[in-house]
Amino acid sequence: MLEGKKILIGISGGIAAYKICYLVRYFIRHGAEVKVIMTPSAVNFVSPVTLSALSKNEVIINMFSPHEDVFKLEKAETKTWHVNLGLWADVFVIAPATANTLAKINHGICDNFLLTAVLAARCPVFLAPAMDDDMIKNPVSKNNIKSLQEYGYRIIEPEYGELASGLTGEGRMAEPEKIFEILKEFLTRRNDLKGKKILVTAGPTVEFLDRVRFITNSSTGKMGFEIARAANDRGASVTLVTGPVGLSDIQGVKRINVKTADDMFKEVKSNYKNKDLIIMSAAVEDFVPVNTGSGKIKKEEKDTFIFEFKRAVDILQYIGERKKNFKLIGFALETNNEIENARAKLKKKNLDMIVSNNPDSDGSGFGTDTNKVNLITSKNIESLPLMSKYDVGNAILDKYLKMK
Ligand code: CTP
Repeated sequence: MLEGKKILIGISGGIAAYKICYLVRYFIRHGAEVKVIMTPSAVNFVSPVTLSALSKNEVIINMFSPHEDVFKLEKAETKTWHVNLGLWADVFVIAPATANTLAKINHGICDNFLLTAVLAARCPVFLAPAMDDDMIKNPVSKNNIKSLQEYGYRIIEPEYGELASGLTGEGRMAEPEKIFEILKEFLTRRNDLKGKKILVTAGPTVEFLDRVRFITNSSTGKMGFEIARAANDRGASVTLVTGPVGLSDIQGVKRINVKTADDMFKEVKSNYKNKDLIIMSAAVEDFVPVNTGSGKIKKEEKDTFIFEFKRAVDILQYIGERKKNFKLIGFALETNNEIENARAKLKKKNLDMIVSNNPDSDGSGFGTDTNKVNLITSKNIESLPLMSKYDVGNAILDKYLKMK
């Protein structure tokens, strides 16, 4: 099933390192090629000899004793051998990723071979944190994990359970079966959108009342960015038009930053024509101020203000009215009568699918990493459980691939 796939596994020094023997076996059994890198402290927890026998490759530990085979790897562009492994791999997973290794990756420290290889890697990198309950709850570790996620590293969430310290709590590395399943799913979907051109809108828009003041909404752009990330992972060529958000660029995705509804409208109009799929998840302001002055309004000028607003153009509706050889998916944010209202928008805006969500539902809405949505077409409704926004993105794309 994973024939021809190249897996790079990095092991740092935590007790869960012994479980990686199973992870290596699962990949080998499914036909993948595996190379293992260990940090010098990881060898205290599991033998490189075992991992070498299981992976059928020499295990790399030392920075300064180059392994000849790494120079000869397919795709090797350079004799700098730490770079070659990141070019060779389809996916790089670090498991267990200790607090120390996570902190160092987050700060670009490269004082062992594993850290050097991860900083140079071009392939997607998954991190499976493993540490004691108090260490993972420490704001320093939490911030490191959050920051790594923002850089585009993918976190395989640790679990609650028995820990090496004898305590029970958070920080137990996800089981090797689970890590394998996540990576298998990632690799098998890898190129199913190759050749597809996708446009995604994300984030809020801001509408200026004067030179410095504006109105906006609470959208953080996470949902749209995760859709773009998922589509990019699956081989699509993705253009992301986004309002102002605090999210990092996604490697491989063409990002266009806009501020106002009008800017977003202009960018969508000039980018939608050659697309196969358009997904609009932006929280566009529905009303925009009329007659904003060019300067800052001084408080001495008036005691009260009345601003006049006009309806913003409905970008999704505009595209729906011009739908030709592409599929169009919209979102519906509903606090009441979710399904009924979303269905009305599906029809009115001439969509192929609408994704409804309710910001009042636990774990859903603005700023969360998860969402609970319904995928609604004219034929059926699929109600999904609470999922990560990345998984919601994949579910939307899976459904698109099944559309006629
Ligand atoms: N949308 C858009 N342009 C707008 C407003 C909304 O493209 N000016 C898109 C959103 O990106 C989303 C869909 O329309 O995909 C539905 O947005 P939503 O805010 O749920 O609904 P509205 O159509 O704005 O209607 P209402 O606010 O009355 O629910």
